[in-house]
Amino acid sequence: MVCSIQGHKEWITEVNCLGVVKHPNLVKLVGYCAEDDERGIQRLLVYELMPNKSLEDHLLARVPQPLSWTMRLKIAHDAARGLAYLHEEMDFQLIFRDFKTSNILLDEDFNAKLSDFGLARQGPSEGLGHVSTSVVGTVGYAAPEYVQTGRLTAKSDVWSFGVVLYELITGRRSVDRNLPKNEQKLLEWVKPYVSGSKRIHVIMDPQLEGQYCRVSAQKLVSLANKCLMKQPKSRPKMSEVVEMLGQLISETTLSSDCGVSQSVEEAESGKEKEEGVLDTDSTKQGSSYRRMVFDFKEMISSRNRSVGRLDWRNWAPVVRTW
Ligand SMILES: Nc1ncnc2c1ncn2[C@@H]1O[C@H](COP(=O)(O)OP(=O)(O)OP(=O)(O)O)[C@@H](O)[C@H]1O
Ligand SMILES: [Mg+2]
Repeated sequence: MVCSIQGHKEWITEVNCLGVVKHPNLVKLVGYCAEDDERGIQRLLVYELMPNKSLEDHLLARVPQPLSWTMRLKIAHDAARGLAYLHEEMDFQLIFRDFKTSNILLDEDFNAKLSDFGLARQGPSEGLGHVSTSVVGTVGYAAPEYVQTGRLTAKSDVWSFGVVLYELITGRRSVDRNLPKNEQKLLEWVKPYVSGSKRIHVIMDPQLEGQYCRVSAQKLVSLANKCLMKQPKSRPKMSEVVEMLGQLISETTLSSDCGVSQSVEEAESGKEKEEGVLDTDSTKQGSSYRRMVFDFKEMISSRNRSVGRLDWRNWAPVVRTW
């Protein structure tokens, strides 16, 4: 269990929200307590323990084992399902408003759950397009129209989701003041590399050591771009994102392109290879490929355990290759 101390308004919102939401991809509130003593009101929230910490901890290498490509897809899928539930599956809509990597927690099986509902806000009532509110959230994740006008819709969360997808792809923070100036804002830095798909290997997280499915990476970039459309209405709904990610996970598992991403990119970018952008040691590739297929098997068994409706036969070809 983990305890947290925060402001009164956020505390009330968190208790109210976590008291009514119930979904496998939302962290459980185990208990709460507020006591008035000589130091003022002491407030406590107790959550279920998430032993694998946050997505941020993994991407920033605070945790020794880097996340594989398939694990990243699975985490994105889980987090999307959490948001889709809040936006579309309850009697009223909840907008999360603080979707970011440190609020995506990982349980013992690396199932992802959203935490921190202190800033959550009820969505617009029927017929109204948005709610007007003061701008809160975290720099680097908030949608531009929300920051500029205070008009909040569920599509603001979709924008934040797009930012997190780019963090999963690159292993970088949405804003990092320690980097050279032109690299500090993640969305600006990736721009030149994501329009022509052949260059996306430049932005891929070096912790992946080139072990990702190239087509799958391109599709994830394309999904991130959809979530980051300037016009909120052009962004997909989270249920559509869930659908697209599910499809992407199946394709990644079945694709014959998986495990050969390096050699394809080597052919496309001999120059970068010489300059050491990609580490292309063939022995390493072989062992990493085995590791990746192992990841697929692991993912399938955890999916079957937690979702219980995936057809094993759909996944069989990749498992047989191993
Ligand atoms: N239920 C939990 N189980 C395990 N670790 C947790 C849990 N809740 C939070 N943590 C850990 O504590 C860290 C900090 O979380 P916390 O919510 O306090 O701050 P934050 O998400 O970085 O910022 P913010 O206050 O804006 O939400 C997380 O990144 C995670 O590593
Ligand atoms: Mg948090």
